[in-house]
Amino acid sequence: MHIVTTRDQMRTARAHHGTIGFVPTMGYLHEGHLSLVRRAKEECGAVAVSIFVNPTQFGPTEDLTAYPRDLDRDLQLLRDAGADIVWTPHTHDIYPTGATTYVDVTTLTDTLEGARRPGHFRGVATVVTILLAVTTPTRIYLGQKDAQQAVVLRRMITDLGFGTDIVIAPTVREADGLALSSRNTYLDEDQRHAALCLSRALNAVTAAWLTGERNAAALRACGVSIITAEPLADLAYFSVADPDTLVEIPDGSALDPARGALVSTAVTIGVPTLIDNVILPPL
Ligand code: PAF
Repeated sequence: MHIVTTRDQMRTARAHHGTIGFVPTMGYLHEGHLSLVRRAKEECGAVAVSIFVNPTQFGPTEDLTAYPRDLDRDLQLLRDAGADIVWTPHTHDIYPTGATTYVDVTTLTDTLEGARRPGHFRGVATVVTILLAVTTPTRIYLGQKDAQQAVVLRRMITDLGFGTDIVIAPTVREADGLALSSRNTYLDEDQRHAALCLSRALNAVTAAWLTGERNAAALRACGVSIITAEPLADLAYFSVADPDTLVEIPDGSALDPARGALVSTAVTIGVPTLIDNVILPPL
């Protein structure tokens, strides 16, 4: 496994491979990341992974310095998963002195996480643009857990003509339903138990959809009631939105069974705000 730091080192390492799958991460890897690495390896033959805690996607009150890090452990996990290249840039390798260029994906970033975390997707789109420009992968692998990020980056990759295929892999969960996240590490035992309200709410909405509920307000109310019943949970939003445009389906409307919907939620439990989502499948 080749470990590189600068853009030039990354370009040189990449040039040794033809087809290459790319998994961008912020480190503190878990099975969700590793499943992407293994899939990229299987489908592309070679896989590059970046580990970079990107400062531009954290707001002024967010947890940049406290964000969990363990590079040695990450590198061992990536070796075991079959990664070929690991790019661990310093901040100045990504943002050279005097950098003033940002990438803004508009409209799609106005809602959900974009509304809750102003500037977040500008940081994500900017860093992923730089990572793609240097890595020039055949495919980029992202998790469905960050549903809005996947929609935003798909739009950006199309708009900017990167020619990179995008693969969105299913959310990896613990046996009890909790979606894997580096932020779960902040939860104590009671909070970890409380955090199950996210998947419970999403499962209940899916069950309601599959048994014929089409009313957007009723589907939202079903999810909200489960989360607000959990004393340790502080609900930021519970959304039922169009899966492509991310526009909220208004209270008085019925969902179009042929389109389905993206149901997503953000809930603060103790320190972290956890996000999770499910796609209501078109019927
Ligand atoms: O999903 C993440 O971990 C980050 O947003 C990403 C895509 C690596 C960009 O920093």
